[in-house]
Amino acid sequence: MKQRIAIYPGTFDPITYGHIDVIHRAIKLFPKVIVLVAQNPVKNPLFTDEERTAMIREIFRGRSNIVVDSFEGLLVDYARRRNATVIIRGLRALSDFEYEFQMALMNRKLAPNVDTVFLVPHEKYTYLNSTIVREVAKLGGDIADFVPPGVRRRLLAKLR
Ligand code: COA
Repeated sequence: MKQRIAIYPGTFDPITYGHIDVIHRAIKLFPKVIVLVAQNPVKNPLFTDEERTAMIREIFRGRSNIVVDSFEGLLVDYARRRNATVIIRGLRALSDFEYEFQMALMNRKLAPNVDTVFLVPHEKYTYLNSTIVREVAKLGGDIADFVPPGVRRRLLAKLR
């Protein structure tokens, strides 16, 4: 069987243990996973593309099958360019479903050979998202349970 390359796209502003959980699950299923810092047009990220990419690279240093990249443009164009045929998305709760379903169908319409695979992160991360982590950090709360130490350090430095 052809080796399938999977892309896990997101804003990752910043990456959390919830995203990392999804990546660990994805790499058990696919020989190569590209973690892609992509642009969500409705978001105005705190961290630059370079900062977000660097934080993710630091976490997966030494894992040659997990590649970290960034891209501006249509996700399916990036997928085509990298010969990737799978898009990974995490589903935490029913509330994620409608938006994810719409994106998956649009991506399939644009690129019929690319399938979206939904993975369910551990339930202990159900309540996590990047916005809430940034907010807790901004207000002085402890974020050690939500992000790796390098991300925590950069987030605290950014907010200082
Ligand atoms: N654990 C914890 N948090 C998670 C998570 C998980 N497993 N999975 C997602 N999240 C969080 C994210 O951190 C994010 O939090 P935030 O809203 O506080 O930033 C939120 O849940 C999900 O955000 P969402 O808007 O669904 O996705 P995204 O911004 O991460 O990614 C893109 C959206 C980048 C994939 C999408 O906009 C895209 O494909 N852009 C490229 C342009 C394109 O092709 N557009 C057409 C798409 S059809």
